[in-house]
Amino acid sequence: MDGEKIDKIIEYHRADKSKLVGILQDVQVEYNWLPEDALRHIAKRLHVSLTDVFGIATFYKSFSLEPRGKHLVRVCLGTACHVRGGPRIMETAERILGIKADETTADYKFTLEGVNCLGCCALGPVMVVDNDYYGNLPPRKVEKILSDYGYTSADKEEKHT
Ligand code: FES
Repeated sequence: MDGEKIDKIIEYHRADKSKLVGILQDVQVEYNWLPEDALRHIAKRLHVSLTDVFGIATFYKSFSLEPRGKHLVRVCLGTACHVRGGPRIMETAERILGIKADETTADYKFTLEGVNCLGCCALGPVMVVDNDYYGNLPPRKVEKILSDYGYTSADKEEKHT
């Protein structure tokens, strides 16, 4: 953890404990997850208990206490997407990345998650990479999309040797 970076984020929020959610969001953007050291540092600087910081960090699903990949791949498995082939999108993404849902690739490039509904059911099946939505998605397009975010088939071969 880079204490200076964390301090800059805290100072940007004027070390205001009412801005704790915003501080955690900015730390998560910086690291893709919330390292425990960072949470301890924030608690100390804001004069709040570590329990309170963990309480916020575990309350919001968007925060992660586990290391995550540079890119977050979410595949919708909600009802509308399920009937339109969401599970096949997930299986394809799992096969390509060589991981299961809720796992992260060994090189920390990708984290794969299944979600319940992304609020755009008419576009199902839907996959979202970071904040980019891909709707009406056929499984054959998944690999090309992931390659736009840095996936190469060599990544997979490396993992399986
Ligand atoms: S069920 Fe997939 S976006 Fe709603």
